[in-house]
Amino acid sequence: MTPGFQELRLDGVGRRFSGKDALADLDLTIRAGEFIALLGPSGCGKSTALNCLAGLLPLTSGSIWQRRSDGEKRIDVLPPEKRGFGMVFQNYALFPHMSVRRNVAFGLQMRRLSKAEVARRTAEAIRLVQLEEHVDKLPGQLSGGQQQRVAIARAVVLEPSLVLMDEPLSNLDAKLRLEMRTEIRRLHQSLGLTTVYVTHDQEEALSLADRLVVLRAGRVQQIGTPEDLHARPANWHVADFMGFRNMVEMTAAQASGDEVVLEGEGLRLVGTAMSPVEAGASVVAAVRPEDVLVVEADGQNRITATVDVVEYQGRELAVEARTGTGRALHLRTDQRLAPGDAVTLAVAPERLLVYPREAAEPAPSELAEVAG
Ligand SMILES: Nc1ncnc2c1ncn2[C@@H]1O[C@H](COP(=O)(O)OP(=O)(O)OP(=O)(O)O)[C@@H](O)[C@H]1O
Ligand SMILES: [Mg+2]
Repeated sequence: MTPGFQELRLDGVGRRFSGKDALADLDLTIRAGEFIALLGPSGCGKSTALNCLAGLLPLTSGSIWQRRSDGEKRIDVLPPEKRGFGMVFQNYALFPHMSVRRNVAFGLQMRRLSKAEVARRTAEAIRLVQLEEHVDKLPGQLSGGQQQRVAIARAVVLEPSLVLMDEPLSNLDAKLRLEMRTEIRRLHQSLGLTTVYVTHDQEEALSLADRLVVLRAGRVQQIGTPEDLHARPANWHVADFMGFRNMVEMTAAQASGDEVVLEGEGLRLVGTAMSPVEAGASVVAAVRPEDVLVVEADGQNRITATVDVVEYQGRELAVEARTGTGRALHLRTDQRLAPGDAVTLAVAPERLLVYPREAAEPAPSELAEVAG
């Protein structure tokens, strides 16, 4: 690791391609030792941001600064090899004709370190990713997960001040992805790395990162800890991405403080405003499937519905039910429901998040139609 590396500061970083913003106005300070995830749907600018950091793409606006114990230095003007960052890509990009050991040692040899130093650090990196038994194999003789470990060892062996990873697990099967996820977090901690990790998988981002940066169409939507993002998404786009699968367009009939009475779809519900909402406003009401409960008794915030589709998911069922107006609602339950069952559903007001809808933006249902 670079001695004295303290933080990296992105100041209004932007990148345009043929007049269109792929990334705009990114302000972010990455502290030494942090694990930052860049999260968002395909095309939102994640790789663009990472490549700007790495120096593989010049910025079209803004600047990047590295602060060390000896002062702050502008680094976006430096070529990639002068920045001292390590990169791990989705397609490992290993040298196919070199053994595991030589792949890992390559970067150290380029730095003209002594033979003994290269051998020592290479062995240490290989041990960290648990590939001791495979040092003499060629990449083609390894599994996908093992190849990914080589790529990680090759990046961390140089003790970079920052490790950049672009969807490093997306080529792996589900089980291996979980194992490697733990491995990456373990390496990050034990080596004291500073990591910027790109993914479109919210679960991966939430489980790995100290802080998440959610991007949409090149712009930051929210920066926060996993807890912040999980409990209080800043807008309905972030909520959508954070697993609030139920998004219903309604009207705010009354609003006082953060309590909002919602009407629409033949329902009258009480929810919690996540930003100021006025009576009469069009809003989006968002709730997670696990917060839609199947109940017996009448009471506040009840919805009557008919079970439509039931998916077996171990202890629980994932259920799609339809309200009287035909609106689909997703829920999870341990009750053995079957298609056609009539159910009463309840949502706690504090779990029903209410977001104002910008006049110009499409409604969630319109986006779903485009996507579907
Ligand atoms: N070299 C390029 N020339 C023109 N447009 C580009 C170029 N690279 C990226 N873009 C555009 O910039 C936007 C952001 O792309 P980027 O690769 O950063 O997305 P991403 O978030 O990494 O998506 P994915 O999850 O699919 O990898 C996209 O609209 C993309 O088409
Ligand atoms: Mg990408």
